[in-house]
Parts: sequence; C-alpha cells; structure tokens
Amino acid sequence: MEGFKTIIEPFRIKSVEPIQFSNWEERMEFLKKANYNVFRLNAIEVMIDFLTDSGTSAMSSKQWSGIMQGDESYAGASSWHKLRDAIHLLTGHEVIFPVHQGRAGERMLYGILGGKDKIFISNSHFDTTRANIELGGAEAIDIPCSESNDPTSSFPFKGNIDLKELEKSIEKFGAQKIAGVIMTVTNNMEGGHPVSMENIRGVAENCKRNSIPLIIDCCRIAENSYFIKKLENGFENKTATEIAKEIFAYSDAAIMSAKKDALVNMGGFLTLKDNRWSDACRQMLVITEGFPTYGGLSGRDMEAMAVGLSEGFEEPYLQYRLQSTSFLGEILQKLRIPVLFPFGGHAVYVDAGALFPHIPAWEYPGQALAAELYLTGGLRASEIGSVMRGKYSENGDLIPATKELVRLAIPRRVYTQSHFEYVGEIFKKVSDRRDKIKGYKIIEEPQFLRHFTCKFEPIL
Ligand code: F0G
Repeated sequence: MEGFKTIIEPFRIKSVEPIQFSNWEERMEFLKKANYNVFRLNAIEVMIDFLTDSGTSAMSSKQWSGIMQGDESYAGASSWHKLRDAIHLLTGHEVIFPVHQGRAGERMLYGILGGKDKIFISNSHFDTTRANIELGGAEAIDIPCSESNDPTSSFPFKGNIDLKELEKSIEKFGAQKIAGVIMTVTNNMEGGHPVSMENIRGVAENCKRNSIPLIIDCCRIAENSYFIKKLENGFENKTATEIAKEIFAYSDAAIMSAKKDALVNMGGFLTLKDNRWSDACRQMLVITEGFPTYGGLSGRDMEAMAVGLSEGFEEPYLQYRLQSTSFLGEILQKLRIPVLFPFGGHAVYVDAGALFPHIPAWEYPGQALAAELYLTGGLRASEIGSVMRGKYSENGDLIPATKELVRLAIPRRVYTQSHFEYVGEIFKKVSDRRDKIKGYKIIEEPQFLRHFTCKFEPIL
C-alpha cells in the first residue's frame, strides 16, 4: 500500500490448513525413506512447501462459489463458455482448447509442429516443454540473453532471449527447419525473470520476417506484464491485462499452465491465432484429453479458472505478489546467501554452487542444499541444477548444468510474512555450518525428467 513499508496481503484468511511440525530426527527418517529426494516426501512431512508455485494457490471465495456453479455436461457446458470467453478476451486468439495442464497443450502443439529434424528456439524451455519436444524427435535450443549469466548484472529483463543469437540461429539452420520460437514469460529456468516488451517485439518482427511461428508459454504472463508496467518505459499507465494483450497480439499460439497465474489447482489451455493447426490439435485433444468443450477438465475447474484469469491480473494482488517475493529475497541477501538478482516473480533462486563451493557439480550442490533445508526446518525446495538439467556424455560422464540453483517457489496467497522470516532462520542455520555439508550421488534414475523420481545417497 502506498506510503507503507509493510506488505499487507490484499485478502483475509477464511479457511486454514494446519501445518504438522516435526523435529530433525523425524525429518531424517522421512528423508531417508524418500531416498533423499524431496519430491518423494509426503506433503504432510513438509512444513513450508516451496517446491512449486504450480497448482498450489489458495483460491478465493469467488472461485469457490464458481466451483458450485460448475456445469458438468459432457458437451457445450456453460462453464466452458465462460472460460472460453475469458481466454478469448485476454489472448484475442480465435481457437481455444482447454487442457488438464500445461504439458498436455505442449504435447499437442509440439507433437504437431515438431518431429525429426525440426528445431525449437526459446529464451529457455521449461523441462516439460523440452521433454515434449524431444519426445517427438525435435531439438530444443535455449538462447537466453547474456545478462542472465552475469550474477552481478542488475539488468531488469534477464528473462530476455538473445536477439542476435536468434538471427544467427535462423541463418545457421534455415527458417524452414525452425518449427517455432517459444517465449517463456517469465523465464522459469533463468531466475523467474521477466521478458521486456522490447524483446518480445524484436522476436515477433524476426519471426514474422522469416515466417516462423511465435508461441508464448504464458503461465506467468500476469507477473511478467506487471514487471513490464513497473520497469519498462512507456508502460506505467497501462494495466497488466493491456500489456498481456499486446504480448498475445504478436503471437501465433499460446500455451498456459493455468496452475500458476490463473490461480487454480488444475487446468490449462492451448490457443491458436487462426485455424492453421486447429484440426490436428482438435484431433489430438479428443484422443488424449477429452471432448473439445472440456479438454481434461471438469466444469467446476473451468469456472474457477475463468475467475482466476481475472483475479490474477488485479493490481493489488500483483503488487503484493512481487513484493512478497522480493521480501524473501532481501531476507536471504541480508544473510549473505548468494541469490539470483534481481528477484524473479514467482520464486527466489539460490546459487547452491556458490554457497557450497566445496561440493563439485557431480556431487550435486543443489540437491545437498535442498536436503539440508528440509532437515533443518522442514522447508521443501527444488533443485534446478545438474540433477534437473545435467546430461551425460557418450562415455557416461556428467555434463553439468550451467548453474547449480535451488528454487524457492512461492505458492500464491498461501504463506505470510512470518513464514518467510522462518525460512530466513533456516537459511541462517544452514549457512552457519555450510563447510560441513556434503554432496550426494544418484543411485537410480529414469531416462526422462529424472529429478522427479531419482534416488540419492549421501556421500560420506
Ligand atoms: N511451462 C512453464 C514455464 C512451467 O513453469 C511449467 C510448469 C509448464 C510449462 C508445464 O505446466 O505443470 O501445468 O504441465 N512448471 C511447474 C514448476 C511444474 O514447478 O515450475 P504443467
């Protein structure tokens, strides 16, 4: 609120969910049972859950009342009409498909546009995006801007794509081979940083000139738009919705995991500017998700999403949202914990490689931090480092990720200022004994998306 330092949540709490407290010994038992992978813990064993901001929002009373109005008809439900109108109003796109979550839209669109010998280029592909592209036989190339690799840079739009690299890639591969440029707003793999409108305009111009489809991965577009309003010249008098509409206007397609900025626990959509790929997408939707007027969703899910799409763009909410993320970031900065700066929208990213310089990439410093945060205070966070993004060379050596990060993703409208202060205390304790903390080895892993299910053992 203007003139005040305290972030007050722009809501009151009507329904609460108890947190089960535990001690170190109990958590050690839980973690061992989970093979030291925090994804394998039971939620009840966790005290503060910053694993993801996806599907973890608290819904409003308006959303819950929408749920009671859900029309569960198989075809042509009124809940679908409400959702379709809300998505059309926001995106301006003509063809709209509901899906059960973002990756279902990815599988549909990238399955159709992609395939062997095709290439997708992005500021950064999210892990499921990359997996869906690679599953179809295409290649996914990330070209984030150079500022994103400079921890000392305070450039506000570190989520940008590298426009020069984009030009070079189009020249190198030829426009025919490039199945799409995907702009992920905000850039989840690179600190949750926003993309500027200037950058999006540059990409759009390039794509148009070369007849390459521009796709927006828009799950955090409300947060990205609010960053543009606050930080980019010429947007101060626009609303986040107006800014988002301009972004969509440049695009040929959009995929949203509504589990983020649309403030729902499940849902998503795929939209297309025109009819180009609509028959193929509809066919896939019917085969794998459901009838075109519900996709993978129930009527009540669609009601909640229609309301959330508007609440997620409200200014008091967005102001509180971005302020509370920086509040946590500042607590960690004061403790001299190395964090990515500027702070992102949905999460604070800790540089575990810098916090534990004695743990090499092949002993997974991010995993070591995630395990330690849990043991110390019951905090669950996710590794975005060599466990998630590492690869193996032909002779089986680890090719590490460029950064060893741990992401503290903040569920929307769920935790209060005192929870953040408690998280600060956990970090203080971990930091005080950082030299004694050891790395991990992987003892079992699947072929794709190994971070979700792999098993670890501590290195003694
Ligand atoms: N794109 C981005 C940028 C994402 O962050 C996610 C999910 C997806 C696509 C896929 O959406 O989960 O609904 O299928 N991100 C979650 C996270 C899982 O924790 O960041 P989904």
